Amino acid sequence: MSCVVAVVGATGVVGREMLRTLEARRFPASRVLALASPRSAGRRLPFAGGEIEVQTASPEAFAGVSYALFSAGATTARELGPAAAAHGAVVIDNSSAWRMDPDVPLVVPEVNMHAAAKRPRGIIANPNCSTIQMLVALKPLHDAARIRHIVVSTYQAASGKGHAAMEELLAQNHALANGSPPPAAILPGQLALNVLMDWKASPGSDYSEEELKMVNETRKILSDDGIAVSPTTVRVPVVTGHSEAIHVQFHRPMDAVEARRLLASAPGVKLFDEPYAPGRHPQPIHAVGSDDVFVGRVRDDLGVPGAINLFVVADNLRKGAALNAVQIAEGLMG
Ligand SMILES: NC(=O)c1ccc[n+]([C@@H]2O[C@H](COP(=O)([O-])OP(=O)(O)OC[C@H]3O[C@@H](n4cnc5c(N)ncnc54)[C@H](OP(=O)(O)O)[C@@H]3O)[C@@H](O)[C@H]2O)c1
Repeated sequence: MSCVVAVVGATGVVGREMLRTLEARRFPASRVLALASPRSAGRRLPFAGGEIEVQTASPEAFAGVSYALFSAGATTARELGPAAAAHGAVVIDNSSAWRMDPDVPLVVPEVNMHAAAKRPRGIIANPNCSTIQMLVALKPLHDAARIRHIVVSTYQAASGKGHAAMEELLAQNHALANGSPPPAAILPGQLALNVLMDWKASPGSDYSEEELKMVNETRKILSDDGIAVSPTTVRVPVVTGHSEAIHVQFHRPMDAVEARRLLASAPGVKLFDEPYAPGRHPQPIHAVGSDDVFVGRVRDDLGVPGAINLFVVADNLRKGAALNAVQIAEGLMG
């Protein structure tokens, strides 16, 4: 079955990854529309050996579209998502606009693809990039022993904040190498050679918006409001590839031997766990351009019997955004 696909935000880092993903996976599209803001109308983007011209995203642009893959921020998703759905498109949105709406399923195909079947608004939400990779890694462990508590620290790449942040990190590296002050118009300060807290405050909480996304999205995706999640998120001077150190406790004890066995055959997971062989542990440079969520450093916790520690790395633009959205569309096509 062939269909028309619209990529909204096609000029952004996630949108361009969506085009590459649709092409690489030979998604059965008779036509792919590249939509963005009026600033980009007429720009040409490479696709399938040729080019497609960018059009302005508007309600009318969705006529005849079967799948609308949005990566254009929450404001655009709120404005245009319902219009695309009203034209009959299945909207799969990467922003935070719809994630916690009870009428919008929040889907990681390896974890809860079944949830995508019920979508009263015609909209499906892609979770936050950090939540996606964490849950791909934890799902097989959850199925075996049911998670009780997750303590997670993230090390998030600049591209997670979009094209401009990625460019600014590179400009900061260049400025520092030349003895100049690093520019910081997009990032909240010097990220090059540094680590930053880079998210907005959540009203009424000491936790950042990003940290609370990991709490609330995990509970929604795993359909378990009893799961405790204790997150700390930071931005590190990496261009692409988010890393996470995760401590996880279960309703029954698990050891590292069992965890490795479960992870070795888990969908979407690449177990990469030879930490003392040089370079044989998950790193962002391995994950960039890969579909897999890399999992390593699987260890029994030293202080909490029956709990596991692991290190998880994935390409935030790919499994953290574009690939997850395309996999949802593929799953719906059957
Ligand atoms: N980066 C990640 O790792 C990641 C992961 C998960 C989710 N997301 C989410 O994905 C979305 C896009 O992120 P990104 O990193 O790709 O950002 P980006 O590189 O800054 O790209 C933003 C895109 O949105 C488009 N856009 C902005 N305003 C628009 C409007 N009024 N109408 C139509 N298009 C508009 C831009 O078009 P112009 O070029 O014309 O301005 C551009 O294509 C965000 O919601 C983000 O939270 C990102």
